[in-house]
Amino acid sequence: MCGIVGYVGGRPCRDLLIAGLEKLEYRGYDSAGLSLLDDGHIDSVRAVGNLANLRAAVADERDAGAVAVAQTEATIGLAHTRWATHGRVTEENAHPHSDEEGDVHIVLNGIVENHSELRRGRIADGHEFSSETDAEIVAHLIERHYDGDLTEAVRAAFADLRGHYAFVAMHVEHPGMLVGARQECPLVIGLGKGETFLASAIPAFLRETRTVMRIENGEIVTIDEDGATVTDADGEPHEREIEEVTWDEDAAERGGYPTFMMKEIHEQPDAVAETITDRLPELDEVDLSELTLTPEQSTRIRRVVIVACGTSYHAGLVGRYAIEAWGRIPVEMDIASEYRYRDPVVSPDDLVVGITQSGETADTLAAMRLARERGAHVLAITNVMGSQATRDADSVLFTRAGLEIGVAATKTFTSQVAAIYLLGLWMAQARGELDAARVTELIGELKSLPRKIGETIEGTEAQVRAVARSHYEGRFFLFLGRHIGLPVCLEGALKMKEISYIPSDAYAAGEMKHGPIALLDETTPVVCVATDSPVLEKTLSNMAEVRARGADVIAIATEGSEQVCDDADQTLFVPRTDWILQPILAVIPLQLLAYHTARLLGLNVDQPRNLAKTVTVE
Ligand code: AGP
Repeated sequence: MCGIVGYVGGRPCRDLLIAGLEKLEYRGYDSAGLSLLDDGHIDSVRAVGNLANLRAAVADERDAGAVAVAQTEATIGLAHTRWATHGRVTEENAHPHSDEEGDVHIVLNGIVENHSELRRGRIADGHEFSSETDAEIVAHLIERHYDGDLTEAVRAAFADLRGHYAFVAMHVEHPGMLVGARQECPLVIGLGKGETFLASAIPAFLRETRTVMRIENGEIVTIDEDGATVTDADGEPHEREIEEVTWDEDAAERGGYPTFMMKEIHEQPDAVAETITDRLPELDEVDLSELTLTPEQSTRIRRVVIVACGTSYHAGLVGRYAIEAWGRIPVEMDIASEYRYRDPVVSPDDLVVGITQSGETADTLAAMRLARERGAHVLAITNVMGSQATRDADSVLFTRAGLEIGVAATKTFTSQVAAIYLLGLWMAQARGELDAARVTELIGELKSLPRKIGETIEGTEAQVRAVARSHYEGRFFLFLGRHIGLPVCLEGALKMKEISYIPSDAYAAGEMKHGPIALLDETTPVVCVATDSPVLEKTLSNMAEVRARGADVIAIATEGSEQVCDDADQTLFVPRTDWILQPILAVIPLQLLAYHTARLLGLNVDQPRNLAKTVTVE
């Protein structure tokens, strides 16, 4: 999740743009850049690292572009903070990107799904590209369609693109205009007096204006110093409501949400969409060509071993069911801090998957290194480009959740689960374990997950608040599940422990009668994950067992499975999808339950006591 900001107006805008980027840093960054148009010429500066590096780059008198940027009084420009998804963290891959002549400059947030095929087309037409990014193609497409009207050139380029993105373009022949377009990723207009902003989020210009206009999916916006014109893909004008934002700057950074955790819970549809979008270009194949591991090599894999810590370990547990069920490959799970000290038996036909959102967790890194030294192919699933995990692995599968600030992992968990579903399906396809119809069916279901995650958040939050209100003073929470529901319970219990500090346990429902059932009485809330699965009936009978001891049973069920209500005091329904994919939805009400319980207890959910976001100590 990159940050983009554009300005056109009466004031010199270099510092305005950089200040806007500073307000977007919470979106994550590994490099940044800006372009300014003045006197018929566009000058750019880009730098790897944080904004201090960009400021230093602007002040670098050895660089002509920097000198021009440092001296210009330009009143139109674009700027960008990058969270790399396509292409390494380098100056060449930092935005803004331009066409070969440097007449068109663009900044983009999101992913252009069909960038490879479009790029091949431009290269065949004799064009050269200067970066590895998926974004640069947009500048070349605008250049191709340009015949004097920038808005129409952007509209034509927009029609060529597929994916999950928003971008803003500037053209050397239009010193008073910027044109943007939105497909899923956020883009908002800031209306000032004699000046107008375009940005991926309101904090970028909140200090300058509180008057905003939101852009919807599929819309193109043309701004100048007097305001904005919104049209659709066919050029039809669209009226947009003007709003006054009342947030203070802190709230703005949280996107208007009370906490980063709540913002990140609501970012899960985008995070999962960006993680799967361009890996599912069609409905018949999973494209993981970014891996060093080839489909052919994956057919020789005899065992998958997943090593991770905390929430990432729970994502692995969900993934195990998918890889075994689809790929028929045995999967071993191990907590990294245990794996590294138990002298594990590792062989060259093992695939060891290290899951770590930060890419810096010491125990997971050590486990990956150990496996690599012993000859396994090591694959890292991580959210941070350039992290240590990317250097300790042979292959890297990036989640694309953007920077996660809340210590309690939420959007990185669902993105990890989505990534491991991709890996499971890709291996199953390479090994011929699934027929084409089943692959297409599962890809269709995977592509529906971002929408269904959004529906789950909207559909369950009110009920979850009520459950939290009736139990937040409780002294113990129990989470019960079977089969693929168990990892969801483990994650629910971890969330409850780490942010509400209420002792919580997760148990395989079939194990209850072997001891833990003794813990129950009429005050115990028991959350049962009872989504559709091959063992739903079994789960329901365990729920009846628990209820018979007077405990308050809160069930998470699949839409339409009304029978679950018979054995629960309250039932929260999540949208229906393939049973193996249900965990990515069932975990949402559990995230929300921990959240609202902690909020009712007045606790700091973003920075819980005794916890760090990244555990780099052993
Ligand atoms: C989860 O909410 C916690 N922050 C913690 O358990 C975390 O998942 C664990 O430390 C692993 O972190 P990683 O994914 O960055 O390796």
